[in-house]
Amino acid sequence: MKDLVRMRTSLKEEIEHVLNEQIKMEAHSSAIYLAMASWCDRNGFLHSAEYLYKQSDEERHHMLKIFKYVADMGGTAISPEIMNVPQEFDSFRNVFESALEQEIAVTHSINRIVDACRRSFDFGTEEFMKWFVKEQIEEEYIARRAVELFDVIGEEGVGRYMIDKAIPEITFGDESA
Ligand SMILES: [Fe+2]
Ligand SMILES: [Fe+2]
Repeated sequence: MKDLVRMRTSLKEEIEHVLNEQIKMEAHSSAIYLAMASWCDRNGFLHSAEYLYKQSDEERHHMLKIFKYVADMGGTAISPEIMNVPQEFDSFRNVFESALEQEIAVTHSINRIVDACRRSFDFGTEEFMKWFVKEQIEEEYIARRAVELFDVIGEEGVGRYMIDKAIPEITFGDESA
């Protein structure tokens, strides 16, 4: 019977588990970004809201990418339950500080998955996870630059208005390359 189970999926139990945990984390990220978009929308930061709606979509896309991988490998992809989504933020700046914290936590989680893949000789999944490793470099960069804008531009006077406009303009890497 055990052999039949192994024939169903090439994923080891531990890897299937950490991938499902990551599915949950990406879904949670998506929901938090949506709450952030709503907060910015109702507080007049419309450019940031637009940017955060897009981020929310991206996180759902990340979630689906892992979901489909687990399913393709014959594993059981678990549709995640999403709980504890903060709806209120202390300030405009706090929205982006929370976003950066969240991205750093995701990076650590992705790194732990890669480590688990290596320990269980699952080089296929490690290869699959490389896309996420690279994606996190970009996501963290953008989140960090967004927080920096609050110091570089300053929040006084028209500061927050300028920051709101500058946030969707942040790009990673050499776009002309
Ligand atoms: Fe993500
Ligand atoms: Fe992200």
